Amino acid sequence: MDTKAAPAMTPEGSESALLDGELDRMTAERLAARYDEVRRRTTSICAPLETEDYVVQSMPDASPAKWHLAHTSWFFETFVLKPASAEEIGSEKYSYLFNSYYNAIGERTPRGERGLLSRPTVAEVYHYREAIDKRMKTLLERADPALLERLGASIVLGLNHEQQHQELILTDLKSMFARNPLRPVYRESRGIGGAEAYPVHWLRYEEGLRRIGSEGTGFAFDNELPRHSVFVQSFQLADRLVTNQEFYAFINDGGYDQPRYWLSDGWAARNSHGWTAPLYWERDQSDARRWRIMTLAGLRELEPNEPVCHVSYYEADAFARWAEARLPSEAEWEVAAEGVEVQGNFLENEQFHPQPLAAANAEGRLGQLFGDVWEWTRSPYSPYPGYRPAPGALGEYNGKFMCNQLVLRGGSCVTPRSHIRSTYRNFFPPDARWQFSGIRLANDV
Ligand SMILES: [Fe+2]
Repeated sequence: MDTKAAPAMTPEGSESALLDGELDRMTAERLAARYDEVRRRTTSICAPLETEDYVVQSMPDASPAKWHLAHTSWFFETFVLKPASAEEIGSEKYSYLFNSYYNAIGERTPRGERGLLSRPTVAEVYHYREAIDKRMKTLLERADPALLERLGASIVLGLNHEQQHQELILTDLKSMFARNPLRPVYRESRGIGGAEAYPVHWLRYEEGLRRIGSEGTGFAFDNELPRHSVFVQSFQLADRLVTNQEFYAFINDGGYDQPRYWLSDGWAARNSHGWTAPLYWERDQSDARRWRIMTLAGLRELEPNEPVCHVSYYEADAFARWAEARLPSEAEWEVAAEGVEVQGNFLENEQFHPQPLAAANAEGRLGQLFGDVWEWTRSPYSPYPGYRPAPGALGEYNGKFMCNQLVLRGGSCVTPRSHIRSTYRNFFPPDARWQFSGIRLANDV
C-alpha cells in the first residue's frame, strides 16, 4: 500500500496460500467481475470531486486523490501486467511518479511532494486507469491457467491494496477539506442514527492459551500469518466504543493539562502539537463550551453519543488511564472478536462518519466491534512468530514497517466491508490522528 508511513498489510508469503484458497474458488471470470467492482468503487468515491480537489496535498502523510488513482493503477501495471507481457502502458516516468515506497522498483517522487504534480492532468490519469483496466480485462479474459497460477495472487493483492487506498482517499480528502476555511462538503449527511446514551458493560474473558492470526483459508495479508498460540490473562473488554461525551469529560477534567495521564512521548507530542482536543474538533467561537466537528459532510455540532474519532494512540492511552482502564492488546481484541459477525458501519453505508449505538447491546454482546472507528491497541506492530516476508519487491509491502507503530483493529466507517476481518492488523505511528481512529477500553480482571 502506500500510505503513511504506510498503512497496512499484505503478503506474499501468504500469496500462495491465498491463491490456493482464493483462486480455486474464484474462476478468472469471477476475478474479472471482482476487479471491475473494486475499480468502479474507487472512481465512484471520486465522483463528487471537482478537478481542483484531486491535486491538493494537505500534509506529507496525505496524498492527492489523483495520486491515489494513478498509484493503484501503477500497482497493477508493475506487479501484474509487466510480469505478464513486459509492456509499458503509462509514460516511462510514471514509475518514478507513482511508486510509493518500493525500493526494489526504484527511485520515486518524495512523499511530501506528491501535491506538486499538476501533470499528468486528472484526465490523463483517468486515461491511464482506463488503459490499465483494458489490459487487465484482456488478461483475465484470456485466463491462461499458467499465467493465473503465476500472477493470480498479485491480482488479488492488487484488489485488496486498492481497497486500502479507497479508505485513504477519503481520509486524505477530509484532511484537505478541514484545512479549507470554506469547510467544503464531500457528501451531504444522511443524518445521525440512534443518539441515546448507553452505559458501558464489561465483558469478561477467561485466561487461556488461544490461537490468533489467519487460518490462511481466504485472503490475508502476510502480517496476519502465521496463526500461532498466545497466552492471554483474564481480561475485560468494554461492550462499546468511547463516545464524544466521555472524551469531553476527560477534556473538562483537565485531561490534556495533566502529565500524569500521559506517556512521556505522548506528553511531548501534546506539547509540540498543542493538542487540546481530538483532530477536527473546533470550539464554537461564540460559546467556548460548545464544540463543532469537521466531517465529510462539513462542519456541524458535536454529537455527544457518537464514538470519539481522530485521536492518536497517545490520547487514547491518556484517556484510558484517566478512566482507570487501559487499551486492549491485539491478542485480547482478536480473542474477543473470534466468531463475531463482521457487520457495522462501513464504507458501503456512505455515512463516512462513526455512528452512535442504535440500541444498547444485548447482554454479553460486543457492539461496534467492526466499522465506525479503528480501535487502537497497546500492541506494537511486530512480526508474528515465524513471519516471513515474500522475496522481491512485494515483500516490502508490510514487513519493513514493523517498528515504532501500534496495531489498530476492526476497520472504520470508510473501510470497505469486504476488506475487513477479525485477524486484520492495521498499523500507524502513535501520533497519527488523521485516520478514523478511536477507543475501546479494556481492563484487568
Ligand atoms: Fe499503495
